[in-house]
Amino acid sequence: MGKRLIELRDVSKEYDGDLALDHVNLYINDGEFLTLLGPSGCGKTTMLRLIAGFIMPTTGQILMNGTDIAKVPPYKREINTVFQKYALFPHLNVFDNIAFGLRIKKTPKDQIEQKVEAMLKLVNLEGYGKRWIDQLSVSSSGWPSPGLS
Ligand SMILES: Nc1ncnc2c1ncn2[C@@H]1O[C@H](COP(=O)(O)OP(=O)(O)OP(=O)(O)O)[C@@H](O)[C@H]1O
Ligand SMILES: [Mg+2]
Repeated sequence: MGKRLIELRDVSKEYDGDLALDHVNLYINDGEFLTLLGPSGCGKTTMLRLIAGFIMPTTGQILMNGTDIAKVPPYKREINTVFQKYALFPHLNVFDNIAFGLRIKKTPKDQIEQKVEAMLKLVNLEGYGKRWIDQLSVSSSGWPSPGLS
């Protein structure tokens, strides 16, 4: 078993007085694959948003590697969220959407290019970096994009 990576200690969350999470205690160990399963409205997304730092708990603590991360903003937490719904930047092309997090982390430019190209290749979208995000589907209108050579 890996070391304790994320810990929720007695975490509750209320939205306008309505209790969404009620004193949750949970460990997530390093290398562990964890699935949250439960009926709609049971608080799965609330828990993920708390861990990512998009919302704050009403009570309790969230720890990462043993340290309370209450004051750490989402972009400084080493936590990534793949959203259920569309969460791309519409003003950035495919390449810049993928590169966004790496730029925030101040990754060197040549490494960003390498990593973005590798990701595009991984998902069979090599050469599509300059397209706008709404120009990837074969059914989308208006392509080729102005940026595509
Ligand atoms: N921003 C919000 N404001 C007020 N109430 C909210 C808000 N977000 C969630 N809730 C309420 O908190 C409870 C938990 O919602 P949450 O979205 O975390 O559930 P979920 O398990 O992710 O559901 P689903 O399976 O439908 O995605 C629900 O009662 C929901 O109505
Ligand atoms: Mg949800």
